[in-house]
Formats: sequence, C-alpha cells, structure tokens
Amino acid sequence: MKKLRIGVVGLGHRGRAMFRLAGDKFDYVEPAAACDLFAHNFYEQQWRCDKSIAEAYPDCVFYEKYDDMLEKAALDAVIVETGADVHADFCIKALEKNISVLTDIPVVASLDEADRLWKAAQKSTAMISVGANPNEQKFTVMLKEFYKNGYLGEPYCMEAEYIHWSRPGSTERVKLNENGNWRKLLCPIRYCTHSLGPLLAVLKEDLRLVCCMGTGQHGPREDYEEGIVKDDMSCAQFQTESGVVVRLLRNGRCRANIGHHNYRVFGTQGYIERIERNEKPVIRYNSDLDNPELREIGGEFMPPAYANNPDAIGHGGMDYAMMDKFLRALRDGTEAPISLREGLAMTLPGIYAEESSKRGGALMKMYYPWDKEWKTVFD
Ligand SMILES: NC(=O)c1ccc[n+]([C@@H]2O[C@H](COP(=O)([O-])OP(=O)(O)OC[C@H]3O[C@@H](n4cnc5c(N)ncnc54)[C@H](O)[C@@H]3O)[C@@H](O)[C@H]2O)c1
Repeated sequence: MKKLRIGVVGLGHRGRAMFRLAGDKFDYVEPAAACDLFAHNFYEQQWRCDKSIAEAYPDCVFYEKYDDMLEKAALDAVIVETGADVHADFCIKALEKNISVLTDIPVVASLDEADRLWKAAQKSTAMISVGANPNEQKFTVMLKEFYKNGYLGEPYCMEAEYIHWSRPGSTERVKLNENGNWRKLLCPIRYCTHSLGPLLAVLKEDLRLVCCMGTGQHGPREDYEEGIVKDDMSCAQFQTESGVVVRLLRNGRCRANIGHHNYRVFGTQGYIERIERNEKPVIRYNSDLDNPELREIGGEFMPPAYANNPDAIGHGGMDYAMMDKFLRALRDGTEAPISLREGLAMTLPGIYAEESSKRGGALMKMYYPWDKEWKTVFD
C-alpha cells in the first residue's frame, strides 16, 4: 500500500508531538515534510524530544515557507499546529490545493476566518478534520453512550471549567511560550473548545445566545507583562434556542498547581459528571430515580476502546485516538471524524463571548456559517 505523505506546519511542542505520533505509531504514514518560521525547531533537539525532527526522520524535508511545502512536498495531508490564533489561513491554503487537513483548535480566530474557511472547505475535494482531542476522551465517549442509550434524557443544563495553572516566569510556562505569544495574549474564553466540544456532542442545537464577563487583572503588578490586558478569568453563559444553558469558566491566571477539566451534564432522565475530587478526576453518573446514588468510575482520559493499546499515548491516549481516526478516514476516503461544522460550533461561541465581555457582559446573539442570518460582523 502506498504510504500517506504527511506534513506539519508549526513545530512548537504540540506540532512536534503530533508529527511524531503520526510518524512513529502508524506504519502507513510517511512523515514527509515539516515547516516552521524557525529552522532550529527542525534541526535541533527541543523540549520534550529525545531527538530533533531532522534526526528522527532523515527523509523528512524542512521548509521555511508554507507555500513551498504545499507546492513541492506532494502531501496527502497537513497537520496545522501553528499558534492557537493562526490556523485558518494554513487550512484554507491546503484545502485550495485539495490537500487534507487535521487542524488544532480553536479552529478560527474571527468571524471572517470562519466564513472563508467554511467556503474553502465546501469547494475542496479534500477533507478537513478538527483536532479536538477532548472529544475522544473517556468522559465524552461515556457521555455519548449514556445519551444514545436514553439514560440521560435530554440535557437541559451543562457546565464545564478548564483551569490551567499559570505561574508567571516558571520554566514550564516560558517553554510553553517558546515560539509564540498566543498563551500570553489570547482572551481565556477563546480557548473554550476543550470544554464545549464534549458537551456539544450531546446537544441537538447550536448555542445561540452568550453573555460573558471578564475579571480584569487582580494580581500583583509583577505578574503581568507591560501592555498585556488579558483577563484573569472569563465566565460565560450560553443558551440554545430551546433554553438549554451552558456555563463555562476559563482562566488566564491561576496560582494553584491544577489542570482541571471538569464537566457536569444535567439531563431530564439522568446526570453525568467528570469532576476532580481529592486531586483525581472521577466520572460519576446516575439515571435511576429510585436509587439516586451516583455510580463512580475512573476519570482518566484514555478512551475505553484504546485502553489495551500500548501505542495509545498523548494526553492520556486521546491524542492517539484522534490521530488514529483521522488517518484511517484519510486512508479509507471516509468522512472527517470531527467535522468543520463541529469545530466551528465549539469555536465561534468563544469569539462572540470575547466580544460580549468587551461590551461589559452584553447579551449577544450568535450565528454560524450554515445559518441563513450568518454575517461576518457582530450585531
Ligand atoms: N489539543 C491539545 O491538547 C493542545 C495542547 C497544546 C496546544 N494545542 C494547540 O496546538 C497549537 C500549537 O501550540 P504550541 O504550544 O505548540 O504553540 P507554539 O506557539 O509553541 O508553536 C507554534 C509554532 O508555529 C510556528 N509558526 C507560526 N507561524 C508560522 C508560519 N507562518 N509558518 C510556519 N510556522 C509558523 C511558530 O514558529 C511555532 O514554532 C495551538 O493551536 C494550540 O491551541 C493543543
């Protein structure tokens, strides 16, 4: 069988990890090309890598210019791992050349990008899949099963929080910002995709209204860099047409050494949550009205179908599950495992929420490229 020629743009720690996952764990992949603004990310050994990419894949060709890579590398697919606020144009260029895409999240950074990417995807013969790895985690798998089997009924209220520790000046933080500034600059609520993605998997409607408030900055002056005005915390509430409410907390600043991904889903027939308790995530659920005790299982990320696969690595196995599904779809010519529509449905609420918080928490209506009323300016 002809191998799939895969390229990557963006060789930060995430791009390197995803490229190596594809190159090392899937024997039908040829890690053919890599692109970054900085050649040292390819040629030199970097953080969390035992070898440089050049050393690990001697046949892989490095490009400083993305257009050159698309033109010359004869790729089947490109993995887009540039900073979180610069994905769309890389995806559009690949799709225009009918090269398939696995893009990290959030998918777009503006309404205009959403419009252009949506149109490019409609025209292209290639596939775009969204790298929403939390949609592969054990909690999401269980939530979908629970819903499909009727144990949840219909969700009417859901909440999530994603709190990532952030100690200014710490070695890890500096390394996470090794090449770009998006972690320092991005409004916290824009990184809503890890939280909304799993919840939207059991919602029949799009989120339609948003009200979001930001805290401003409350820490000591030395915690903040000159000119960066990012809120310490964003707190958003979303609502669907029929009234389902989704509440989401996202941090910019957090002095506790925690990395919470918490979720709670209240359904008409049942309840399910993934909450950190005693520093361990636990999934608990119930749908038995006569016996309301919650049943408890481990809350690790590993998707159950991959639990016995020694290759299943990356964020507790969910990166592997996502890559496996993407590469199989590419090889077999089937649909994107996580569609652009799903990606935009989990990304655009963050863009509207940021605007709502700039307007002091104003209630805003949200539209999507598949809506009749879709437009690329805010109301
Ligand atoms: N899903 C997850 O679990 C997860 C975890 C971490 C990061 N991410 C995502 O991964 C992406 C990358 O994160 P990171 O921390 O590695 O970022 P980073 O800023 O460290 O790396 C981005 C890389 O893109 C390169 N780049 C930027 N513009 C370019 C251009 N025009 N041409 C070529 N290269 C260019 C930069 O030089 C840099 O090396 C982000 O979108 C982030 O949201 C996802």
